[in-house]
Amino acid sequence: DKELALHNEEDIDNKFIEKLPKALFLDQIELFEWEGFWSEPPTIKAAKMFKTTFQTDPNDVLLASSMKTGSTWLKAICACIMQDNKEDEDLLNKDNPHFHVPTIEAIDYYTKTLAHDLYTMPSSRLFHTHLPYRVLPDSIKNSDNCKIIYIARNPKDTLISMWHFYNNNHEDPKNFFPLEKFFDYFCNGVHFYGPFFEHVLEYWQESKKRPQKILFLKYEDLKMDPKKEVRKIALFLGKPLDNEENVEKILWRCSLDRLKNLEVNKSGSVISTIQNSTYFRKGVVGDWKNHMTPEMEEKLDKLTSLKFQGSGLEL
Ligand code: A3P
Repeated sequence: DKELALHNEEDIDNKFIEKLPKALFLDQIELFEWEGFWSEPPTIKAAKMFKTTFQTDPNDVLLASSMKTGSTWLKAICACIMQDNKEDEDLLNKDNPHFHVPTIEAIDYYTKTLAHDLYTMPSSRLFHTHLPYRVLPDSIKNSDNCKIIYIARNPKDTLISMWHFYNNNHEDPKNFFPLEKFFDYFCNGVHFYGPFFEHVLEYWQESKKRPQKILFLKYEDLKMDPKKEVRKIALFLGKPLDNEENVEKILWRCSLDRLKNLEVNKSGSVISTIQNSTYFRKGVVGDWKNHMTPEMEEKLDKLTSLKFQGSGLEL
């Protein structure tokens, strides 16, 4: 009976999605616009189910981000901070950060393909989403206790990181999807979880209204002063790090060089379509300079200041 009910539900969702606005991403992936953001049907289905069925626990911690803004790093850091310090197990040596901190909408709710099931995870649950703030379940938004940590990144670096991510299977730059076309997708907001600017702005504005509930981080700050940012995160999570050694240990465990070279990340995949190695590339600030033309730079800068005008946000 349960199977039949899920099947019916999926059927209803499919019919609903068919009627949504549609657009092509990378010339071939069909994306649909639901609640003002673009995504594929499995994501929309998972998001709808999450929105209508999820009940928050006061100890829940939700990490949130647009794509390619440092989600993997944030997951690794928070997994280390939240783990029971007594055991001091090196979690990241055992599996990829995306295993330890599941992304909600990557869980296939109809078949439950991911090892973790959010609904039966023990408290305190640490999980992640790329979904925009507006579609989060009311139980999360209305709770004063369930905390959210958002990570944002400079749009030019985000775009270049995303472009590489989608080109990762091509060794030869000649086979790369043309940057000019990718640039237009990004600026038009037609990409997974796009538009980028609205995504960032919503979380930014909420973090201004409720700083106790939402901590807003920037990838660039984490790169510039990682110790300060890690302490800030730990304090926000109610797990202050007084010991300098512990801060350094967490940063070392979560460092890009280390994670990139761990066996668990060199092979395998947590999410079936994505190789673990794909999450780790250069991890620098300003890589856009190696790829963008001055025209692109100018256009994206203008768009960014237009979108963020009056918000107080600078990226
Ligand atoms: P680049 O493509 O600019 O190198 P996400 O985790 O949201 O998918 O973001 C991926 C970006 O974060 C990539 O940026 C990746 O290299 C970088 N990254 C991944 N792990 C990192 C870490 N431990 N420290 C710093 N940057 C990291």
